[in-house]
Amino acid sequence: MIFQKLNFRNTRIYITGGSSGMGLETALQVSSLGAHVLIFARNPDKLDTAVAQIQKKRQNSDQRFQSMVLDVSDNDAVESTMRAAVDEFGAPDILIANAGIGCAGYFEDVSYDSFDAVMKINVYGVRNVIAALVPSMKTLGGHIVIMSSMAGLVGVFGYTAYSTSKFALMGFAESLRSELKRQNIAVSVVCPPEVDTDFLVAEAPTLPPEARLIKAMAGRLSPEKAAMAVVRTLGTRKFFVIPGFMAKASYYLARFSPGWMTRATTDMIVKWSADKTS
Ligand SMILES: NC(=O)c1ccc[n+]([C@@H]2O[C@H](COP(=O)([O-])OP(=O)(O)OC[C@H]3O[C@@H](n4cnc5c(N)ncnc54)[C@H](OP(=O)(O)O)[C@@H]3O)[C@@H](O)[C@H]2O)c1
Repeated sequence: MIFQKLNFRNTRIYITGGSSGMGLETALQVSSLGAHVLIFARNPDKLDTAVAQIQKKRQNSDQRFQSMVLDVSDNDAVESTMRAAVDEFGAPDILIANAGIGCAGYFEDVSYDSFDAVMKINVYGVRNVIAALVPSMKTLGGHIVIMSSMAGLVGVFGYTAYSTSKFALMGFAESLRSELKRQNIAVSVVCPPEVDTDFLVAEAPTLPPEARLIKAMAGRLSPEKAAMAVVRTLGTRKFFVIPGFMAKASYYLARFSPGWMTRATTDMIVKWSADKTS
């Protein structure tokens, strides 16, 4: 109903991290709206299962669906895989740079290697994929959606590595938007709050209790709702998108206080949590 006017017939959409969570949900929704969909991720079994699901949502028999195994942090692999993707599938009209990993824990417990992996996947991974595809998108123009996070707008307790990576994407997206406009490529950056995906399962064992309380302030979305915000963005081409009412409210509170209200509230929560456990 909400997508009544959206139609992606003959539109090629590439989605990194399309085998799970928000990426998969987005792929399912654009498939039902007529798009050709190509997804990328590391695990081939998950990719096969995802393609089968995406195919079931097809709107018409002309649609094409494919997956390619790719680690977005490996720049050589990204360059060769994207060359093959453009040859076999055609250049993307829309690229959703969504692949990413979490990393939760007290700063002192986050090793150099964990910090490095988050930066390589969440920041360099987005850079690598976009750098490999911009040359082929320039001729016809298009749209690039970068998946950041609320943790890229507000520094979150227990997220030193993750927030660093997502803040970096905000600066990257701003600069890129400005540069690619004259090549008729729109850039959007989406900043969801907590979304109920495997990401939360993976971070749960090391997520500090204080972080759990603080994250609750911005609310939690289903992957379907978060993906709907992404798909809506493909229609509006808005630059900056925060899905969810509570997340929007938290952001504007942080922005217009500016920042001190979020810091004061989170400091209070951290103190309350410490008092409770002592
Ligand atoms: N869930 C949340 O609370 C939340 C909130 C805000 C933003 N986000 C962001 O949303 C994006 C999607 O996360 P999600 O919640 O949907 O998590 P998810 O269900 O764990 O999905 C992550 C996807 O990225 C792929 N991926 C991870 N590392 C990769 C790599 N090095 N190369 C290629 N693909 C890789 C995964 O497949 P493989 O493991 O098989 O590679 C999977 O398809 C991430 O950028 C995340 O930071 C998540």
